[in-house]
Amino acid sequence: MDQRKMHGVWANRWTFILAATGSAVGLGNIWKFPYIAGENGGGAFVLVYLICIAIVGIPVMMAEVLIGRRGRMSPINAMRYVTKEAGLHGSWTAIGWMGVLAGLMIMSFYSVVAGWALNYIFTTGSGTFSGVNGEQAGELFGGLLGDKGGQVLWHSAFVLLTLGVVAAGVTKGLGMVARVLMPFLFVVLIILLAYGFIKGDFAAAFQFLFDFKFDKLSWSGVRIALGHAFFTLSLGMGAIMAYGAYMPRHASLGRTIITVGVLDTVVALVAGLAIFPIVFATDGLVPSEGPGLMFVSLPVAFGNMPGGQVFGTLFFLLVSVAAWSSAVSLIEPGVAWLAETKRFNRVASTVLLTSVAWLGGIACIYNGAIFDALDFLTSQIMLPLGGLFIAIFVGWLMRRAIVCSEMDAEGHPLFDIWLFVVRYVSPALIAFIMIASLYDKLVN
Ligand code: PHE
Repeated sequence: MDQRKMHGVWANRWTFILAATGSAVGLGNIWKFPYIAGENGGGAFVLVYLICIAIVGIPVMMAEVLIGRRGRMSPINAMRYVTKEAGLHGSWTAIGWMGVLAGLMIMSFYSVVAGWALNYIFTTGSGTFSGVNGEQAGELFGGLLGDKGGQVLWHSAFVLLTLGVVAAGVTKGLGMVARVLMPFLFVVLIILLAYGFIKGDFAAAFQFLFDFKFDKLSWSGVRIALGHAFFTLSLGMGAIMAYGAYMPRHASLGRTIITVGVLDTVVALVAGLAIFPIVFATDGLVPSEGPGLMFVSLPVAFGNMPGGQVFGTLFFLLVSVAAWSSAVSLIEPGVAWLAETKRFNRVASTVLLTSVAWLGGIACIYNGAIFDALDFLTSQIMLPLGGLFIAIFVGWLMRRAIVCSEMDAEGHPLFDIWLFVVRYVSPALIAFIMIASLYDKLVN
């Protein structure tokens, strides 16, 4: 079979939007965004993050999907195809390789956190949190962190779930999940938002997130915001490129990606507005709580609201599903490539790669420094670098006629603006932020 036809195509534009949103919306939005915003002082960080999404994330996302759809193969082979088409040296394929590696590295710590969420479905469901205060919720979370063996079990369960969908093939396995569960997650977040509004300190939360106090912002905060823009959009490592390979030819790339980017951003902001009112209304909870923020503050809310046991269970179920549909896209680039080599079938490829990530997860559980290092290296270095190269490739090296026809934008005024951003603005901003924070690190 022709490699370019072996992976199938999404049924229509909306299946792509939902699958891409399934990839984008995950732990990054609900777990990571609130806690890094909390650690970096709130408002100014949120503003920088929004700017990064608008002028780097979304434009580069269009470029990445464009390469995937042009190449119609795994990121490694799609890069090979477009590189050849542009008459360039094959070393550009390294973007694909770095992406496969980054996907496995992210999956390692991602599945540990997803394991916590799985665990919380049951702890919340059994009423463990009923009536807890902030301190008790903190102790319960600490208990889970101390139980290494238990964490390995939950993390393994999550890896197995991911393996199942990827082995079945993404176009088959994922459409339904995204169609039904994504809207559901959104509804529960809105309910939590309402709870925070009525019972929590909503005004303080709002001010914290949207009052732009720049004195609290550091260069490392700016770099974290940029890195998170990539992480949350599943950008810079081939995940969204792999999904682009399945995108129907007639779908409008620009509009589609804007929809995905906006949905992702809205979910993150709503998650923040659901979590922080509770933080500010609870003694013993602070915004800079760190990675435990969601696992400590929300149980306090669920433990003290009517119907909290049911809502809490549902919430952690949905978080787990959101993490699941993201994890699938972390593994897919490597699996698609292995399957294309035809040396392994899809199932064997999936087992091989998820096993690597599974071992990485165990390392993260037993050594927190590995967890932090993998998070730092991927979000703050590999993904922005991947994005920088993708922007340079599409902006400067691909033939303009090809780019224009893939964007289906002949004569559209927005096309020129987009191309300008991808050529100059996004690469300059990525390079500037990375160099400035490196300099800052060296000087301080
Ligand atoms: N975007 C996902 C999230 O926010 C994480 C992810 C990163 C998925 C990179 C795929 C690729 O949770």
